[in-house]
Amino acid sequence: MSAMMARMIGSPSTTPLSPSPQPPPSSSQPVRAVPGGYGWPVVGPIIDRLDYFWFQGPQKFFRKRMEKHKSTVFRTNVPPTFPWFLGVNPNVIAVLDVKAFSHLFDMEIVEKANVLVGDFMPSVKFTGDLRVCAYLDTSDPKHTQIKNFSLDILKRSSAIWVPSLVSALDSMWDKIDAEVAKSGSASYFFPMQQFLFSFLTRCIIGADPSTSPEIASSGHIMLDKWLGVQLLPTINIGILQPLEELFLHSFSYPFWLVKGDYNKLVQFVEKEGKEVIKRAQTEFNLTEQETVHNLLFILGFNSFGGFSIFLPTLLSALGDQESTGLHEKLRYEVRQKSGSNSNSLSFDSVKEMELVQSFVYETLRLNPPVPSQFARARKDFKLTSHDAVYEIKKGELLCGYQPLVMKDAKVFVESPETFLYDRFTKEKGGTELLNYLYWSNGPQTGSATAANKQCAAKEIVPLTAALFVAYLFQRYDSITISSGSITVVEKAK
Ligand code: HEM
Repeated sequence: MSAMMARMIGSPSTTPLSPSPQPPPSSSQPVRAVPGGYGWPVVGPIIDRLDYFWFQGPQKFFRKRMEKHKSTVFRTNVPPTFPWFLGVNPNVIAVLDVKAFSHLFDMEIVEKANVLVGDFMPSVKFTGDLRVCAYLDTSDPKHTQIKNFSLDILKRSSAIWVPSLVSALDSMWDKIDAEVAKSGSASYFFPMQQFLFSFLTRCIIGADPSTSPEIASSGHIMLDKWLGVQLLPTINIGILQPLEELFLHSFSYPFWLVKGDYNKLVQFVEKEGKEVIKRAQTEFNLTEQETVHNLLFILGFNSFGGFSIFLPTLLSALGDQESTGLHEKLRYEVRQKSGSNSNSLSFDSVKEMELVQSFVYETLRLNPPVPSQFARARKDFKLTSHDAVYEIKKGELLCGYQPLVMKDAKVFVESPETFLYDRFTKEKGGTELLNYLYWSNGPQTGSATAANKQCAAKEIVPLTAALFVAYLFQRYDSITISSGSITVVEKAK
């Protein structure tokens, strides 16, 4: 068992917050057969799919089964399923407490080839007929090359990251302010997508989107369509039933629907990202094709996709917390540590903002932007949950649903279901809790390396979110956020 797993499983001598105060499995915990089942062929998976997408929704789907089986580990089906996903096996073993979930990070016992979104994998046509980094197992030498390349991109772009972010934020909030002044409220979703596309393209591709008017005005929409078409069979929209089941969850949409846009993005990266492509070839031994399609995946799927989910959730959490006095506390902390001028914002300055960071972590805990993680047993092994030990057979697919795992009452002891913005502050013992914050497919205290599948941007994502919050409280004395819109703003005097 790897060092990582040993740490996650812990021992009786670890801190009281350890998810595993029990002795090693063999001595005390009962070995149980994994409860639950897959139902009748075809019918079982379809019933589960309808529950998942329609009658229950993902959270209730997992919670109900956890209660029914009195276990955080059980067998079930997850979508997509029959009738038109014939090659896809929907059978999984759900792992829903912190201890059980942490097995997903142990690359000695699980493998992660082609399981980014489960047994279903979107066609490689969406990624230039290549399997990009996120679909590669750590045993694949290509994974090492690309993962190291992605870590290098972030290291090198760290010098322009904050100035690019601040300049893109200036133009996003200028637009929102103008709209609020004109119409009394402004939706932030699309301005935010434009801001993300512009900022991330500079940092990841090293290119300025404004060199191509079409990419500058529509690049974010091109990425939205490319993402949507790939992921529709796995996404719960929850408002269009039963049309959603018939038209969105029953079959895969073909690449040609977005081929034209994707090719425009490829051409843009080939033309404007020459420097980063050259580095990938000379320092990481990647071909031009491998580099371009991986860059587009990192830009479009990992970065733009991740932040497009995360930042709106962050704003919505801020809106929800207005009445708790959080805004005043954040503003005080931001201005105390960094004054009122966005020029003074830096990675170092936000690292000093404990409450801002805690708020960001709590948002990631309750709303992990990538809710489900999958991994396949590399060999037979014993999986330990808080309550029992289960025999897992080589080839079985584990599925962790983080929104439930992150409410594990044995770890997040204080009101696990409630948003506590200061949960991760030192005063509350929050630094220890970072060991169990898993949004990046690994603990927040871990390190993303070529030997694991943890998000390459594990450090920079929460820091960017903290900068986003700090910027907001430097710029405004007061802001009201509600239902995806900004309704009132009072700029800093
Ligand atoms: C809010 C933003 C982001 C979120 C929520 C996020 C989340 C994740 C998650 C959950 C995974 C693991 C997926 C799995 O294997 O199950 C992952 C992998 C990855 N992420 Fe991120 N990510 C974000 C931003 C970024 C950014 C900005 C980069 C830029 C370099 C990045 C690069 C990667 C890469 C390269 C992988 C694949 C790691 C590997 O295969 O070893 N991510 N991300």
